[in-house]
Amino acid sequence: MSMTPRPPVPSFIPESAPFTPEQRTWLNGLFAGLFGLEESVTALSTAEVARLLPGLLGAATAPAPAEGDTEIDDGAPWHDPAMPLPDRMKLAEDRPLPRRLMAAMAQQDCGQCGYNCNDYSAALFTQSETRLNLCVPGGKETARMLKQLYQELESAPAAVAPPTPATPVPGALLGRSRDNPVNATFLSRRLLNKPGSQKETWHIDIDLADTDLDYAVGDSFGIFPANDPDLVEAVLAAIDAPPDFPIGNRTLREELTYGASLSPAPDMLFELISYITGGERKQKAKLLGAGGDPDGDAAALDVLAALNKFHRVRPDPEAFIEALDPLQPRLYSISSSLKSSPGRVSLTVDAVRYDVDKRARHGVCSTFLGGRVAPGDKIKVYVQKAQHFALPADPATPIIMVGPGTGVAPFRAFLHERQAIAAPGPNWLFFGHQRSAYDFFYEEEFDAMRASGLLTRLSLAWSRDSNEKIYVQHRIREAGRELWSWIDDGAHIYVCGDALRMAKDVEVAFVDVIAAHGGHSPTDAMKVLGELKAGDRYQTDVY
Ligand SMILES: Cc1cc2nc3c(=O)[nH]c(=O)nc-3n(C[C@H](O)[C@H](O)[C@H](O)COP(=O)(O)OP(=O)(O)OC[C@H]3O[C@@H](n4cnc5c(N)ncnc54)[C@H](O)[C@@H]3O)c2cc1C
Ligand SMILES: NC(=O)c1ccc[n+]([C@@H]2O[C@H](COP(=O)([O-])OP(=O)(O)OC[C@H]3O[C@@H](n4cnc5c(N)ncnc54)[C@H](OP(=O)(O)O)[C@@H]3O)[C@@H](O)[C@H]2O)c1
Repeated sequence: MSMTPRPPVPSFIPESAPFTPEQRTWLNGLFAGLFGLEESVTALSTAEVARLLPGLLGAATAPAPAEGDTEIDDGAPWHDPAMPLPDRMKLAEDRPLPRRLMAAMAQQDCGQCGYNCNDYSAALFTQSETRLNLCVPGGKETARMLKQLYQELESAPAAVAPPTPATPVPGALLGRSRDNPVNATFLSRRLLNKPGSQKETWHIDIDLADTDLDYAVGDSFGIFPANDPDLVEAVLAAIDAPPDFPIGNRTLREELTYGASLSPAPDMLFELISYITGGERKQKAKLLGAGGDPDGDAAALDVLAALNKFHRVRPDPEAFIEALDPLQPRLYSISSSLKSSPGRVSLTVDAVRYDVDKRARHGVCSTFLGGRVAPGDKIKVYVQKAQHFALPADPATPIIMVGPGTGVAPFRAFLHERQAIAAPGPNWLFFGHQRSAYDFFYEEEFDAMRASGLLTRLSLAWSRDSNEKIYVQHRIREAGRELWSWIDDGAHIYVCGDALRMAKDVEVAFVDVIAAHGGHSPTDAMKVLGELKAGDRYQTDVY
């Protein structure tokens, strides 16, 4: 069923606000309703919109934190992954330092740093953690802001609240954290797209038989990748250093392969280059090291591009390695269940490949899994326990799963698990991707699950089959009446996949469904969604 079309309304949301056209239209409708159409209004600032939106979308029931509190997630707007860092810092500017440290982190609780954001901020605040470059989604921007805030902490310790003990990084158990990985055996990869697809997504199988690892569906799996050997050789050639130069107990080549990130060139590398060059080159390197962009190409500079920009720089190999960021592990949602695949874990991995200035760039871990690692190879791995992303305890509870693209991964795992335990609860999957003919991951499996009755409903959205973009949220709105009856029956809702756009749009679609079919006003519908979140009945795993 489609939503009733709304009459045209004035624009309350500035073009610069971080929303998609769909979100902007929906918000304009909401604010028109809240303020009254006849009211004379001026556009809200990005910060005002951002301040309002998360309070309405989901954080409505979250408690306000006490001053200096580092223990609870207050659902504050600056945790929104779609909000630019300057806006997040502006919103958090009057807050205690731990909260500002947390505002600098780009995506709440993605888990890649090995902490949740609250604990990482607390650990930085108490200085039990000194690594400022662990936030993968925030990259250089977050590292720079954390450095600035850390200096504030070091220079004015008396001005901040007394330290609270940091939650220790769980490291005691083998394979249970990024600090304590184990070796597992890579088994196989299988392409999930058909020839003609614009995507390259791999089903990956890894053998856990030689490990003591287990996992629950909903958990993620951490992989330590190795850099592309061609890229390593190009970097070695650019610095003209001997590959076997000893760095600790490794050679330079080994360190560049397993130890150092060769992706965005870190500020420290430009600082190092500024020490060993002169004149205009020195000034440019200095500017780049301070976050400047003298030639408008800073965002495109990975380590090799930076070395080529300052060609013939010959840094000392040890100083060069010290100036690079450490190569970090990447997380993937587990797409298997141990109950149906004992001793194995499966992942669903989109290979990141793109060109910059005619040079092919490859996402380090996705192309390691999607190409470089060979069957039988040992890889360093760990299980990252999910926080608030799990099947309902009662197997009879209905579940609604929304997972376009690789977002389908944990839902394959959920379905395998529910099949294995003969769970009686109904299961509804919303899947979407570019084209039905090429990008229907796990089509045969899902068809069989439909035929057996396990998959009660399968709603599909193909974004590039027609001129009109059809996304999962369109299917959600179309099925609103039935969805509302599932929600009313106690269904748990799960969303997995792209954090920046899809997750927000899907949330807005559910608010629309609750308003249209649950008989709620838009603001009450948002409160209902907030209550679903607070009761762990609306859970997300987004990245
Ligand atoms: C909890 C969690 C679960 C996840 N689950 C999955 C999953 O199930 N499947 C999955 O595939 N991924 C998943 N991810 C994402 C995954 O962890 C990696 O971030 C992803 O594979 C990319 O890593 P990479 O090392 O291949 O790329 P990187 O080397 O990290 O490169 C990625 C970076 O390249 C840049 N980039 C990418 N495309 C372009 C472009 N076109 N132009 C310019 N720059 C570009 C961007 O800066 C991007 O951040 C998950 C992440 C989290 C946090
Ligand atoms: N930074 C970005 O801009 C960005 C965007 C997408 C994905 N990613 C990342 O790329 C990786 C792999 O992505 P993936 O293979 O899982 O698939 P994906 O690129 O996320 O696409 C999956 C499907 O979602 C559609 N989609 C695009 N925008 C949407 C929206 N606002 N709401 C609902 N659906 C939307 C896509 O359509 P169309 O592509 O046809 O529009 C496609 O049909 C992930 O790591 C993801 O986070 C990054």
